[in-house]
Amino acid sequence: MSQERITTLLTEKRSYLPPEHGKSSAWICGQEEYDALCRRALDDPSDFWGARASQLIHWFKRWDKVLDADEQRHKYRWFTGAKLNASFNCIDRHLISGRRNKAALIWQGEDEMDVRCYTYQMLYTEVCRMAHALSSLHIRKGDHVALYMPMIPELVIAMLACARIGAIHTAIFSGYAEGGVRSRIHDSKARVVITADAAVRAGKFKPLKANLDPILEKCPSVAHVVVVRRAGLDNVTMQPNRDIWWHDLIDDFTLNADFPCEPMDANDTLFLLHTSGSTGKPTGIMHSTGGYLTYAAHTTQWCFDMRDDDVYWCTADMGWITGHTYGVYGPLALGATTMMFEGVPTWPKPDRYWRIVENFRVNILYTAPTVIRSLMRLGEAWAERYDLRSLRILGSVGEPINPEAWSWYHKNIGGGELPIVDTWWQTETGGAMISPMPYATKLKPGSAAKPLPGIDAAVMGSGGRDGEEDGGSGHLVIRKPWPGMMLGVFNDEEKYQSYFSRFGCYESGDGAQVDADGYFWILGRIDDSINVSGHRLSTAEIEAVLAACPEVGEAAVVPMPHRLKGEAIYAYVVTRDEVPWSEDLRKKLRDTVRRDIGALASPEYIQFVEAMPKTTSGKIIRRMLRKIAGDTYEDLGDTTALADPQVLETIIIGHQNILQGQHETATAAGDEPASEGKEAAPGA
Ligand code: WTA
Repeated sequence: MSQERITTLLTEKRSYLPPEHGKSSAWICGQEEYDALCRRALDDPSDFWGARASQLIHWFKRWDKVLDADEQRHKYRWFTGAKLNASFNCIDRHLISGRRNKAALIWQGEDEMDVRCYTYQMLYTEVCRMAHALSSLHIRKGDHVALYMPMIPELVIAMLACARIGAIHTAIFSGYAEGGVRSRIHDSKARVVITADAAVRAGKFKPLKANLDPILEKCPSVAHVVVVRRAGLDNVTMQPNRDIWWHDLIDDFTLNADFPCEPMDANDTLFLLHTSGSTGKPTGIMHSTGGYLTYAAHTTQWCFDMRDDDVYWCTADMGWITGHTYGVYGPLALGATTMMFEGVPTWPKPDRYWRIVENFRVNILYTAPTVIRSLMRLGEAWAERYDLRSLRILGSVGEPINPEAWSWYHKNIGGGELPIVDTWWQTETGGAMISPMPYATKLKPGSAAKPLPGIDAAVMGSGGRDGEEDGGSGHLVIRKPWPGMMLGVFNDEEKYQSYFSRFGCYESGDGAQVDADGYFWILGRIDDSINVSGHRLSTAEIEAVLAACPEVGEAAVVPMPHRLKGEAIYAYVVTRDEVPWSEDLRKKLRDTVRRDIGALASPEYIQFVEAMPKTTSGKIIRRMLRKIAGDTYEDLGDTTALADPQVLETIIIGHQNILQGQHETATAAGDEPASEGKEAAPGA
């Protein structure tokens, strides 16, 4: 990916000026205003962030200090001494600001006739009832609640009910399978898990509750399971005294059952969300209440130029950070109308998104490159039939967007005029960090443009020097704290410190290059993560699952470029003595990964090898495996470190055989990771 991106960078010369129409009423209107904000944020960060926090958030008690920084331990505490509640900010205050009957959440179910619309008042009622219900299960401030739920309104209601009580929610993407769910529940020590009988996806049911039951046998912290009846399955096993239906639970609480908001410290944890860790164990990223919420509202307003009458649709699953920040907390804190879609873009036909845009007059659409690429492949005719004129701003997130996809999106969805905000950020950053401002920034297809005001992004060489390497590319770092920054890593201080250990400031794990205009071009992950259709997966986690199979002696997993998914998973496997290489074994290994982590982690290719390329000290040289998988083995770099150079030649021949036989070997599994997509990605 990075090589392709670097080539792109050198050849991409197009640029697009921000639209004139609508500029005068924009939050940031024009380059000069943006530049002035950057200067102000740099000169006096406390003043800048303090002002934003005052404008955007309702505080029960104001802060003593905007930022309390412990540079030695890289601990940054924002708005210390302040009190607030996220649920109050996302609901209650809008009830008295004239938005009581405004649509807060519009939900489109997979069936087109299945639509629910919650006004702010209705959301308030449901969130209060759920807060009472959780409280009746003895959930209190600081307790953990896991949400293993599909894209249904109850997920948003559950998040806001937790926030109201001060309980910490941990969402677990409903596409995860056994191992992924268990490790997350274990790590968070959740006392309650909220789930559904099944997730509905492309006409099929995925039985979440039944998947959960065996997992819970090994999760002693869980006292109760609350089950939403979504699919109406009639064979759901409910364990007495532990499991309870959502509708039975809230039935005890009437529609006027107010539940007061718990005043939280600005630095109390609002939620935990796991990313794939580099060791195979997921990393529980903790976000604060005050800093995170301020940053979510701030970036939603500026990056999307959010206005009061906008219908805003972030297509990401709410179980990911994008859904948290830009599906729930950001838009609701601003009192906006947020859309939620249960289905996938290609089912029953590849016009699903455009029907929704037309039906609900969506103004702002925020989606992922993987979705754009898959719809692009199916042709523009699907979009042409619909009236997309309500759209004002388009967004992209999750992985680098290739200029071809950018141009398709711009021309066919944006009529060649709409600004595309390509927002670069991560679970750890809480919100967008590098992104155009729709009415201020000149766009270059494939570049996320410039850091937001107050964000000090830079590219560094490996040696920690301030500067670049490899033809101008290097490690993307953030040198100053910002309010959306993670609070810590749950129960893993060492992991938290590892983000700062190399450069003394926040290291993103991404590679980037800055051009002469100061535009950032993100090259993708340079750590041990793979980004499949916008999902961040850990190579170590997949390797551990493969290595645990009795037939496997050793496994190494690397990314390979993929036309639709951006990156796909390529696994090298050494079998144990006497175990023959076979298609059956390939299938078994894929099934094991799918069962344990989820379909999204299933390898695109599995190459059996005699041995791994290793250094004389026995370390696998992944750099070489990555190049072979990416078909760029003409330049394998220095091979003198290899204990046995012969190994490499055999692996290259094996790789070529795999590519030749790709029609047979790229089995159905190849398409499945995207069908479990984070961004409700393609299913057909
Ligand atoms: C990648 C998702 C290029 C990047 C918000 C990052 C991107 C990882 C972009 C974080 C973008 C996200 N351009 N790459 N606009 N947005 N990424 O934690 O590699 O799920 O490190 O957060 O996605 O993934 P995460």
